Amino acid sequence: MKSIETLSAILATNFVLYVKTQNFHWNVQGPTFMMIHKMLEEQYENLAEANDEIAERIRSLGFLAPGSMKEFLAASLIDESPNDLPAEKMIQILADDHQAMVDKLKELIPVFAESGDDGTADMLTARIQFHQEKVWMLKSHLV
Ligand SMILES: [Fe+2]
Repeated sequence: MKSIETLSAILATNFVLYVKTQNFHWNVQGPTFMMIHKMLEEQYENLAEANDEIAERIRSLGFLAPGSMKEFLAASLIDESPNDLPAEKMIQILADDHQAMVDKLKELIPVFAESGDDGTADMLTARIQFHQEKVWMLKSHLV
């Protein structure tokens, strides 16, 4: 896969995760509602900014950024979820999604660095720290 296609897949995955996080922010139910509702708000705000950052990195490299839901769903590494799941299931799904992003970024960062694209490697290195922290925070709700 060409590096620009890989970066587009990261944008698509980030966008789907952003929508999914906001979906769960709206629809989570149960005694932990307020805690999870607020935690997910912080997360989708970060993901929204990252959508813009990753898309504009693609433009800075001279390519068009994917910008439709159809393209995002086709290229995303994660799937959407229904809105009527138990709170713990929502948290587990999001933890798994952030972990999938961590695994993919670990694989990709050295590829961008070795190809001389340090700007993209640096941006993705910052993103991996965010996703690693979310895996920890989300999983901490499940013990
Ligand atoms: Fe809200």
